[in-house]
Amino acid sequence: AARPLTDGFGRRISYLRMSVTDRCDLRCRYCMAEKMQFLPRRSILSLEEIGEIADAFIARGVRKIRLTGGEPLVRRGVVDLVRMIGRHLDSGALDELTMTTNATRLADHAEALVDAGIRRVNVSLDSRNPETFRYVTRWGELDRTLEGIAAAKAAGISVKINMVGLKGLNEDEIVPMMRWCADQGHDLTMIETMPLGEIDEDRHDRYLPLDAVQQQLEEQFRLTPLIERTGGPARYWQVEELGLKLGLITPLTNNFCAGCNRVRVTVSGKIYMCLGHDDHLDLKTALREGGREALDAVLDKAMILKPERHDFAIEKGHVSSRATRHMSVTGG
Ligand code: GTP
Ligand code: 5AD
Ligand code: SF4
Repeated sequence: AARPLTDGFGRRISYLRMSVTDRCDLRCRYCMAEKMQFLPRRSILSLEEIGEIADAFIARGVRKIRLTGGEPLVRRGVVDLVRMIGRHLDSGALDELTMTTNATRLADHAEALVDAGIRRVNVSLDSRNPETFRYVTRWGELDRTLEGIAAAKAAGISVKINMVGLKGLNEDEIVPMMRWCADQGHDLTMIETMPLGEIDEDRHDRYLPLDAVQQQLEEQFRLTPLIERTGGPARYWQVEELGLKLGLITPLTNNFCAGCNRVRVTVSGKIYMCLGHDDHLDLKTALREGGREALDAVLDKAMILKPERHDFAIEKGHVSSRATRHMSVTGG
């Protein structure tokens, strides 16, 4: 077998996040500015090229691939891509192929996605109040997202809800969201707002430290830590009273970079070694001009360049970062 991907800190890279489009039909306030400049067609990878890059990573030991965006389901042909990468599930070379989506188009695609190999999706849902949902997404319709979630479930796809904690917006919905997820049989993960890219509003005012949320929850519920991991960044607890699996993603209050196992590839073919850093290398040119061998050489270089950790920081309750790209460039 080819050399496994190991970075300069001895971390094995087994999880690849691939953005299949930078576009999205929503504009979550913490993710994008309202007016975004999207990439022109010619600068993005074809689905075949995305498939080739996935093949190269799988050959180097990647076991889990997550398709992200923007919103992955706005890219035409994305189900074909899922099928293309999904054949590695059948051969046993890949453990999981999954997707993070806003679910607006999930009802149309759920059956096809199952058929192509998707067993689990993560869905962004920060509020179950229609007005708050619309505010956060700028124009999203809550019902449409809920229909997408229900369709996925009906098609046999497991759903994990991603809820970004937003001070003054959805704090009081945390416990109701936990109850709803438990009722519906979804897992729930809460996420700390990460400071990426210029957005239109002051996200500092919305930063909600999840260590404090956890403490409050512990006064109400019995939280049993679970050792079970998904290979993602969340730490999980079983909420005994509800029968809910609750994940917390706490890049700011509880750093998890030491266990990092992932890198990201954007739709323009750039590999980003860390969510919190802007440095990246170009896989697209390597692939187009030098094929698989050149691609492998860039992957080796990327491993050397992967930083030890992000440098998001909290100062006086404000969050900061040196990364200037939007979250939607890599889909988180
Ligand atoms: P699971 O497979 O369910 O564990 O998914 P996941 O948590 O890896 O993926 P998802 O796309 O649902 O991401 C949830 C949140 O985790 C998003 O806000 C991502 O930006 C964030 N996230 C994922 N990987 C990293 C990471 O390496 N560092 C940081 N700081 N955040 C991450
Ligand atoms: N901070 C934390 N999470 C974010 N997401 C998007 N932008 C941010 C941010 N600035 C989340 C979305 C989605 C996941 C991929 O990343 O809610 O569920
Ligand atoms: Fe779109 Fe997801 Fe970003 Fe919201 S978080 S704007 S749904 S890519």
